[in-house]
Amino acid sequence: MRVSVVGAGHVGATCAQVLAQKDIANEVVLVDIKAGLAKGKALDLWETAPIGLFDARLVGVADDYAETKNSEVVVITSGVPRKPGMSRDDLISANAKIVKSVTESVITYSPNAKIIVVSNPLDVMTYVAYLTAKVDSARVFGMAGVLDTARYRSFLASVLDCSPKDIQAVLMGGHGDAMVPLPRYTTVGGIPVTELLSQPRIDEIVARTQGGGGEIVQLLGTSAWYAPGAAAAQMVEAVVRDQKRILPCCTWLQGEYGLRDIYLGVPVKLGVGGIEEIIELKLRDDEMRLLNESAKHVSEVMRVLDGMHLF
Ligand code: LAC
Repeated sequence: MRVSVVGAGHVGATCAQVLAQKDIANEVVLVDIKAGLAKGKALDLWETAPIGLFDARLVGVADDYAETKNSEVVVITSGVPRKPGMSRDDLISANAKIVKSVTESVITYSPNAKIIVVSNPLDVMTYVAYLTAKVDSARVFGMAGVLDTARYRSFLASVLDCSPKDIQAVLMGGHGDAMVPLPRYTTVGGIPVTELLSQPRIDEIVARTQGGGGEIVQLLGTSAWYAPGAAAAQMVEAVVRDQKRILPCCTWLQGEYGLRDIYLGVPVKLGVGGIEEIIELKLRDDEMRLLNESAKHVSEVMRVLDGMHLF
């Protein structure tokens, strides 16, 4: 079973590494427009197989999508990352064209693939892939909720000095600074976090989560890759192993949460069919207001896309 990762930059290569090390796919195909980059990284990763003790074959190709034929899942990481001072939304003009052209090639060779989008601005790039692929929305979804909840859970683990494994959380909305972590649905070994931390402490962690991507951009001068790559690989695993995991994913909403015709992060069941179910929580008015605010930001970026007349 083949999984392809388009874009052999830091995020794509990290995703491929996790997929191989955990033997999530028999074959991982890494594609990049830059000659040598995908081949070089795939070869370097393959050379770790005798040390890491995995069987997954790694193949690197320079823009040759024939090699991705019949992939079960394709992860799209293509596009430019942000630099300090940029928001994810500033990337739309460059990345929309790239994601459109990549999706056209992907769907030509893998008409039945599930497509996971990682490129930014995430929610709108997932929409671009959906418009281009013209397949059931259950098969086109975006990564960011897994990354954003991972950040939220890691910050909570640091503050509480406990294992990140024991922290479960729900986070909704777009992959931007208006994302909505939900402390009411956050538990530590089954105990509501609201019983363990004061509201001001929780508010601080929520704010750090919302700016989590920017914090890394400030430190590195470019955007993150370890957590984004691992998050995308976890979603691939949920699909190819039909795990039916409950994860926040960027998905096409058709009336759920009172929102329609928008890609936005909500909790879903992720399995071999892709988005097998959208889980609708009964949000309080204040939570719903935050979700609507986040959706408004995503809609504004969708309007910028409309103005590009790509579709
Ligand atoms: C981040 C980028 C991948 O949040 O959007 O790190």
